[in-house]
Amino acid sequence: MEIIIAASPKAIASIVADAIEDLLTEHAGTVLGLATGSSPLSVYQELIRRHRDNGLSFAKSRAFLLDEYLGLPRAHPQSYHSVIRSEFVDHIDIDPTHVYSPDGEAADPVVEGQRYDAAIAAAGGIELQLLGIGTDGHIGFNEPTSSLRSRTRVKTLTEQTRSDNARFFDHVDQVPRHVMTQGLGTISEARHLVLVATGEAKAEAVAAMVEGPVAAICPGSVLQLHQHATVLVDEDAASRLK
Ligand code: F6R
Repeated sequence: MEIIIAASPKAIASIVADAIEDLLTEHAGTVLGLATGSSPLSVYQELIRRHRDNGLSFAKSRAFLLDEYLGLPRAHPQSYHSVIRSEFVDHIDIDPTHVYSPDGEAADPVVEGQRYDAAIAAAGGIELQLLGIGTDGHIGFNEPTSSLRSRTRVKTLTEQTRSDNARFFDHVDQVPRHVMTQGLGTISEARHLVLVATGEAKAEAVAAMVEGPVAAICPGSVLQLHQHATVLVDEDAASRLK
């Protein structure tokens, strides 16, 4: 695992955007793995800038999201289907129909999880998976005690995650209790894992992920088992590292 401590979210964004630009230059049809939430926003802003100013093209690429709230209609402004469009997809030249997310309204979520894993495999797998980490150590929405080999499936959010995400809703009661998320096994199949964490609130989770035991109680620790994982943190998020 490579740890990069950078001066600012902007510096992190530039390093991650370089990695994504290199992949797209090498292979225009690269399959990307996207995350939602606050952590990747500066990366998306930098990629949008490169698209606008330098003509960086995503036209032939495809992308898979990590997760989706269960029971929120796709058109809901806080569904991850909508959020990734308003924060990123609508501002670049990727074909929006080539940006996939689990269907949070599927009649049979078990079948939907299997279908989603199969779709990722059929696309040739994910080249670079962007990740954030929750204050409780989750990646995707694999909450503590998730199996390290888990596949895409339904999970229940912890109260901590629901209260962390309440900022995106009018009230914490509106944050869905259930989600569909790529499993830790699914995520681990991406060829490069790139996790971004900034701010003091993430310091404990980052230390547990990087220096703690590999254990389901800290789902992010699965990155220690990966052949090519890069963790980019600012000084605050790095503050509990030994
Ligand atoms: C979002 C996701 C989550 C977030 C995590 C951190 O698609 O999978 O794991 O990355 O909850 O969220 P932020 O970045 O908002 O602190």
